[in-house]
Amino acid sequence: MAAVDTLARTAPAPSAEPFFACRDVHAYYGESYIVQGISFEMKEGEVVALLGRNGAGKTSTLRTIARTDSPQMRKGEIWLGGHPLHKTNSVGAAKLGLQLVPEDRRIIPGLTVEENLKLAQIAEPKGWEIERVYERFPRLAERRRQEAVTMSGGEQQMLAVARALCRELKLLLLDEPYEGLAPVIVQEIERIVAEIKEAGITTIMVEQNAIAALHLADRAIIMDMGEIVYTGTAKDVLADKALREEYLAV
Ligand SMILES: Nc1ncnc2c1ncn2[C@@H]1O[C@H](COP(=O)(O)OP(=O)(O)O)[C@@H](O)[C@H]1O
Ligand SMILES: [Mg+2]
Repeated sequence: MAAVDTLARTAPAPSAEPFFACRDVHAYYGESYIVQGISFEMKEGEVVALLGRNGAGKTSTLRTIARTDSPQMRKGEIWLGGHPLHKTNSVGAAKLGLQLVPEDRRIIPGLTVEENLKLAQIAEPKGWEIERVYERFPRLAERRRQEAVTMSGGEQQMLAVARALCRELKLLLLDEPYEGLAPVIVQEIERIVAEIKEAGITTIMVEQNAIAALHLADRAIIMDMGEIVYTGTAKDVLADKALREEYLAV
């Protein structure tokens, strides 16, 4: 027994915590049970495509991770960079570097592009300087004094992503960034997401355009009826037509 004891004492420390983890997360809208025990982990810098049919629970999962009040998380743990997100609210999660770009983009009416960006930097800790945003998003630089809600859908999507970059950003959640955009604009947003990936920003991307998302992502997680039904590499999903037909209808 003494030998075992010595071994235990000299054993290496348990392997490092994952950068991001959901552990058995359950969330409800009122009594409506929607997020039904989600568990997954991510390495820093990884891009995950979160896929599944309409109504599968993708948006609800992103909102749960972002710690919004609705849906309400009733069970489970969410960890980001060693911090327990499950013990905080949406403001606390944002301060820890979690940024959700929702489907409806939430651009603030009555404010110019630049005012929208400045507002994102009103609280510490800040992310990118506005000049850096303008270098990467020349379309936003050209329109800096335009009222933001008068821009095209694609430009508003760029602003929504840029605004997330202006804040402390450790995990970016993108909910259908290509939704409702013309193919040429989708290509532009794709380039931006590729640059974000190159910058090493850990990202979860929900997208109906599964093929486009899979071309950018390292890994895919497929949801159905509030649960994860498949986890694998993006390459594997691209190669598996039967899987795509069953859960993604592509
Ligand atoms: N605010 C809400 N209140 C009640 N049920 C909701 C609400 N939002 C979404 N749901 C339900 O939760 C389920 C998952 O929706 P959602 O997360 O939006 O799916 P997805 O983003 O995958 O299309 C659906 O059945 C939807 O009707
Ligand atoms: Mg959705």
